[in-house]
Amino acid sequence: MPTARPGECIDTAPHIEEIDYSDLKLQVTTDRYYSPEYHEREREQLWMRVWQVAARADELPEAGDWMEYRIFDQSFVLVRGKDGQIRGFVNACRHRGNAFCEGKGHSPRFTCPYHNWSYGLDGQLLAVAKPDFDGTVEEFVGNKDELGLIRVPVEVFAGFIFINPDRNAPPLAEFLGEAGPVLEAFHLDEMVPVGMNVRETINCNWKVVMDAFYESYHVQAVHPELIPIMDLSKERYCRLGNHGATTVPFQGTDEAETDHSKQIEAFRNIPKPNFPGLAEVFPRFEELVASYSKPDGSLAFPEGISGRLLFQQAARESLTGKGLDVSGLTDNQMSDFEFWSLFPNVYIQLRAGESTVIIARPHPDGDPNRCYWRVAHYIWLPPEERDAQRTEMTDIPEGGHVPYFLALEQDFSQMEDQQKGLRNSSLTHMTLTRQEPKVAQFHTVLDCWMA
Ligand code: FES
Ligand SMILES: [Fe+2]
Repeated sequence: MPTARPGECIDTAPHIEEIDYSDLKLQVTTDRYYSPEYHEREREQLWMRVWQVAARADELPEAGDWMEYRIFDQSFVLVRGKDGQIRGFVNACRHRGNAFCEGKGHSPRFTCPYHNWSYGLDGQLLAVAKPDFDGTVEEFVGNKDELGLIRVPVEVFAGFIFINPDRNAPPLAEFLGEAGPVLEAFHLDEMVPVGMNVRETINCNWKVVMDAFYESYHVQAVHPELIPIMDLSKERYCRLGNHGATTVPFQGTDEAETDHSKQIEAFRNIPKPNFPGLAEVFPRFEELVASYSKPDGSLAFPEGISGRLLFQQAARESLTGKGLDVSGLTDNQMSDFEFWSLFPNVYIQLRAGESTVIIARPHPDGDPNRCYWRVAHYIWLPPEERDAQRTEMTDIPEGGHVPYFLALEQDFSQMEDQQKGLRNSSLTHMTLTRQEPKVAQFHTVLDCWMA
């Protein structure tokens, strides 16, 4: 008996026309995108309480590696300890509050540059400078054990460092809920950024970015080149608590579903520069197709075999051959992308062995009309190849831009235009369609946090 695979809940989720919208809001207020008052409330109600991705764990590979994480006016330091664990602390010295870290670095301990108090990587106060005082530390300042750095919840999941500014936050696993096991099966923690790993400022609210990637309704207008390979009428939507995933099968039209050569053609037509991970599967796919071809070139598929199945088989074999454990993934997860919304601000485009992750967060300058976006493409590689192939993050200076691949450029240019429109105060609501379930879910969940 095959064991149940967590991704089956997505494979069997309702199709787009069967979705129950009864508890999802389709009218969304627009002041959330530009109003300073809303932004300030969002800071309090959402960002100061929610689990959020701060970085990748492989950005802090060694004990003593640290980095600052800022959200609004709050600053934290993430550090890998001598025991290998990543911890988070409030970036404020317990003496007179100096922010002792900025940017990124490596050190065996933290020393506050103001009066030289020093702290261990576990946050404990190690030493207090007392050059003109003869007595003990105790006499000088009180109980050292009570003056460690203030700890905040930090956990690593799927290779991402999650932080929660709320010191009483529930465990991350509780927040992730059913989404956790489905994501875990992909071994995202073993993937490394390859090719694209960029952070830049965009002139739009962070939610405009999330909206743009949480629906495929815009494909017909913005990415017409994808229409022949993705049949959006077959899109499925699976709600997983605060989070959600949709998926669309590769293969194209209804005709391709019944006509083997059309289905194979649809796979061959996948634009490979957009999908480098899929491109790797093609050599084995062509071998498998050839093994079922007659000398005249026609196909002799026995009952139950299809181009789609062969593609999935080729992907499973290629990835297993590289050393990735795909036993927890379904056949559809071999060929089709899942489009995840991880509340509040993570989009993951995910398939066995690869993913593209987009994270948008409010700009630290406090302007609701701007945000940081971070986009990276991750590939699963055998451990010995990871360091050589890893692409470090490029931080694009203000006003700069790197050209992305076609589909991403198309999305990128759309977002600033949407922000411009949303800022018109006469437009009080957006009206969502029944082809945007994740956008509706995102705003419905957000409204709950804001209430
Ligand atoms: S504020 Fe850090 S040592 Fe004084
Ligand atoms: Fe898009």
